Amino acid sequence: MEETFYHILAKQRLTEKDKEKLSKVYARLLREQELLKDVFSSISLEEKRILDVGTGQGFACKFLVEHAKNSEIVTVDKDPLSLNRLKNIVGDDIDKITFLKADLSNMPFLKDNYFDIVLSHYTLSTVDKNIFHAVLNEIHRVLVADGLFVVIESFGTGIMDYARRLTLELEGIYHQVTGSEEELDLDNLLAIFRSFKGFDIIEVRKLNDGLIDLTIEDFGKYLLSLVSEEDLKRKIEKILERGRVHGFREAPDYAIYLRKIG
Ligand SMILES: C[S@@+](CC[C@H](N)C(=O)[O-])C[C@H]1O[C@@H](n2cnc3c(N)ncnc32)[C@H](O)[C@@H]1O
Repeated sequence: MEETFYHILAKQRLTEKDKEKLSKVYARLLREQELLKDVFSSISLEEKRILDVGTGQGFACKFLVEHAKNSEIVTVDKDPLSLNRLKNIVGDDIDKITFLKADLSNMPFLKDNYFDIVLSHYTLSTVDKNIFHAVLNEIHRVLVADGLFVVIESFGTGIMDYARRLTLELEGIYHQVTGSEEELDLDNLLAIFRSFKGFDIIEVRKLNDGLIDLTIEDFGKYLLSLVSEEDLKRKIEKILERGRVHGFREAPDYAIYLRKIG
């Protein structure tokens, strides 16, 4: 199978060739930094205690370490390879970040009422439904009274052009192949927050109508590796060819701002 960016970023050390292969990831990283600037444009990140839930590739940490001056930054992920990805993205700034390998539903090593801000950057949609409530409980427990919980996720269809249709086709095949459920939608997530009762929803802000994402091609390649049926393989390859010409468009991005009650 062709290496995807996710595998390359997880290496201990990157060669010059690896870095070349990551050019689309670096472009996506820049876009994420702009998006995060917008999300935090009216929120001070200085001298705060900040918890990033779901380290992933370290994109959110990269933003935090560059903008949250004199702040304590802690990031948690259950995937131990996230630490390599994070190091490869933030470089020497890794010394300013505490990475903890753990499940978000069980973080007993974090104190009650400690963090001023918790950030979930495309993580909640990946959390197993069965532990979703436990994850919210943990986030609520570690936040200070009136602490801010910022959630960034993509929802819905947005601009329905050819590039968006191509992404939806790939996602459709992914759900068909893996049997995974459709993703969380905005109304469902807001309903979960309301029934949880521990947070006030302060604002829900649409950040864009869906951006072209250069890394979706890699998702298509990963999908190819999951499929053995020749017809389906050809279908995915055709979508990838078209995507190289037209691009792949993501769903619109949203920021949801919540405040801990009590
Ligand atoms: C889409 S990624 C987050 C992207 C990341 N915020 C970034 O800036 O690169 C989602 C991450 O959440 C992690 N995750 C999902 N469920 C988790 C759980 N229950 N406990 C810990 N980590 C979890 C996954 O391992 C994955 O790395």
